[in-house]
Amino acid sequence: MSTLRVLAVASEAYPLVKTGGLADVVGALPAALAPLGVQVRTLLPGYPAILRAIGAAPVAHAYANCFGGAATLRLARAAGLDLAVLDAPHLYARDGGPYLDARGEEYGDNPLRFAALARAAADLGRGFGGQAGFDVVHAHDWQAALAPAYLHYDGGTRPATVMTVHNLAFQGRFPGLTVDTLGLPWHAWAIDGVEYYGAIGYLKAGLALADRITTVSPTYAREICTPEGGMGLDGLLRHRAQALRGILNGIDDTTWNPATDPRIPARFHATRRTARVRNRLALRERVGLAPRPEAPLFGVVSRFSWQKGLDLVLEALPAILAGGAQLAVLGSGERALEKAFAAVANAHPGQVAVRLGYDEDLAHLVQAGSDAILVPSRFEPCGLTQLCALRYGALPIVARVGGLVDTVVDASDAAQADGTATGFQFGPVTAAELTRAIERALALWHDPRRWRRVQAHAMTIDVSWRRSAAQYAELYREIVRR
Ligand code: ADP
Ligand code: GLC
Repeated sequence: MSTLRVLAVASEAYPLVKTGGLADVVGALPAALAPLGVQVRTLLPGYPAILRAIGAAPVAHAYANCFGGAATLRLARAAGLDLAVLDAPHLYARDGGPYLDARGEEYGDNPLRFAALARAAADLGRGFGGQAGFDVVHAHDWQAALAPAYLHYDGGTRPATVMTVHNLAFQGRFPGLTVDTLGLPWHAWAIDGVEYYGAIGYLKAGLALADRITTVSPTYAREICTPEGGMGLDGLLRHRAQALRGILNGIDDTTWNPATDPRIPARFHATRRTARVRNRLALRERVGLAPRPEAPLFGVVSRFSWQKGLDLVLEALPAILAGGAQLAVLGSGERALEKAFAAVANAHPGQVAVRLGYDEDLAHLVQAGSDAILVPSRFEPCGLTQLCALRYGALPIVARVGGLVDTVVDASDAAQADGTATGFQFGPVTAAELTRAIERALALWHDPRRWRRVQAHAMTIDVSWRRSAAQYAELYREIVRR
């Protein structure tokens, strides 16, 4: 089996820069592909944190003018990843996050910041000055989605291209931008090119022009082909159905391993779970919940956004309170939700605890110490927190959408009888149905023998990248053979 060379292109990668699950995927997939003969280099923007991580890395190429300033492409190895970094100070040397400034506003030049990334991906993908290029350029989300477009319109022989959708809600549609500004030919402004409802659509371009499209679960792959789930792109996705595949995410099973996790006070595994009690205790203590070991403990680790349906948790709170249970919430995002959760914690001290912010250590403790994790998403391309929850023995209570459907088996009577149950699903995604699911979870909790059976099985589910990495490897080989 010959080695395949893949250039992955993305705007974040764990542990270097992360705002969500995209970073986890981009950070973990290369190691899972390596044993399958797929060598991945990951191209990232040269944000300050990334430049600090790579130090004085060698320059592979210099651009005199890369969307308004000089830039270099540097090759390095950091955080276990082979990297290519686009060092373009005029685009990336800023305070604030990868997309938003320190005040939380989008950078006005985001279209150029990520066009530059895609341009560099196309150039590096082909190889500079006779140097070997890559077999495949794999673009993740809208920030990388012009890469297949540049490769397509540059003409000549090119690497094969894959476009992965992690979240169709973010499309990178920019009215007022011209193909000229992007360095694309005039004929790229077309319905089968980059034009999208009278503007330039980055994700649309990637979806139209990549050789293959993937998304992060089989159910989401079906949902995005429907008018309800397609967010305006379902027509195009139906048109490209032959090229579209849903490949389930995994999680990094060394970062997320309850048997070795240095971030939790007590380590445990599927067949030795008694130590979990100490994590429940530590979680209560850490977030300020009353020390009531007999009370079931629900957890949330999430971005606060409409997608994640956390307003439904607020509405379903009476069921948690009435059941004598406790709730520990870790998350940040929309101000209104942050305020509402803070208010609820104030109103129910000892029974509801809310930590606003981003905290990796606490995220691990919530998984290791909660009895159940709530994931009431309105839509969810894959979702990673329910995978962590399975591994850590916190039964996931999930909305019946997207990747949540594909990764959690509802504890119906039948599933409990045949030993396949791993959590709870509810649908439609309403507060009433979430309430019912919470009540079902509470009922099971009061039957410890059955609860433990579901928990033990949940912890044996393979949530690693092994199987999915093989599917990506197969997909790459398929398009390179063509
Ligand atoms: P999304 O990418 O849509 O936010 P995912 O479930 O795919 O959702 O991934 C979320 C990732 O971010 C998980 O690794 C989760 O543990 C992490 N995460 C989310 N919120 C926080 C937080 N407040 N603190 C620490 N980690 C968080
Ligand atoms: C997006 C999705 C999430 C998915 C993640 C990684 O952020 O919202 O469902 O797990 O990408 O693919």
